[in-house]
Amino acid sequence: MKEIITAGSAGFCFGVERAVNKVYEEIETGEEIYTYGEIIHNELVVDDLKKKGVRVLKNKEDLEALQKGTVIIRSHGVPREIYELISSRPELRLVDATCPFVSKIHDIVREQSASGRNIVVIGDAAHPEVEGIVSYATTGVKVIKDEKEASECEFDEHREVCVVAQTTFNLAKFQKLVEILRKKSYSIYDVNTVCSATRIRQEEARSIASKVDAMIVIGSRKSSNTGKLYDICRECCAETYLIQTLDDLNLEEAKSFSCVGITAGASTPKFIIEEVQNYVRGTEF
Ligand code: F3S
Repeated sequence: MKEIITAGSAGFCFGVERAVNKVYEEIETGEEIYTYGEIIHNELVVDDLKKKGVRVLKNKEDLEALQKGTVIIRSHGVPREIYELISSRPELRLVDATCPFVSKIHDIVREQSASGRNIVVIGDAAHPEVEGIVSYATTGVKVIKDEKEASECEFDEHREVCVVAQTTFNLAKFQKLVEILRKKSYSIYDVNTVCSATRIRQEEARSIASKVDAMIVIGSRKSSNTGKLYDICRECCAETYLIQTLDDLNLEEAKSFSCVGITAGASTPKFIIEEVQNYVRGTEF
């Protein structure tokens, strides 16, 4: 009998669930609905919304060309300029589904920057969430993601620095990078803005991966939090598989696994997790 351990934290986090629900609620209004960027990193959900008439604005140009409709901001948030552009146009209706944990980082950066501190964001500079956070700084701002960049991080003036993290950043690594900045004689005000949903998901994934024969991580390769989950599981379990849907699952060569763990990124709907779980349960490995 095969044992399956599914992480309780697998699937939509609070912020993603809230954003996806808002889109479905808005569809009910019968208005023209747009999301600024794909609402989540999940093709099935995005395709379903498309079938229901929701269109995706890819960039500022798409937004500027828009004549009317409702524009939904996804949980990652958007740069200040985009937010202001939507709210300044009376013919557009803004529905802000920015996760409150991300909005809190915008507030911290805005306030700290206004008080004269430079800003360091620990995260991936190319990620939309970080692009949004950075836009709220009015003083110097740098994005760093590793020890090398922390050691090289320099500001011309003002030794006072506020450090925040991308919500999905690894907490231990965040603390390590803050220490490096501190040693560079900056006066550091660091705010741990790593989201607890991410931390709990990562801890649970690590704990399950360390006791199973094979680990399945469900999510998109485009999703930052799924990628980190995969890396964490891989460290503890060599037989770790990253799949987006059940179709990607090919465990033929691994029929001897008696204990299989399952986790999923924040953009993975529950029904996909259940599908994979049922399939694995019904398959004789
Ligand atoms: Fe929000 Fe945390 Fe999810 S910041 S979008 S609840 S990962």
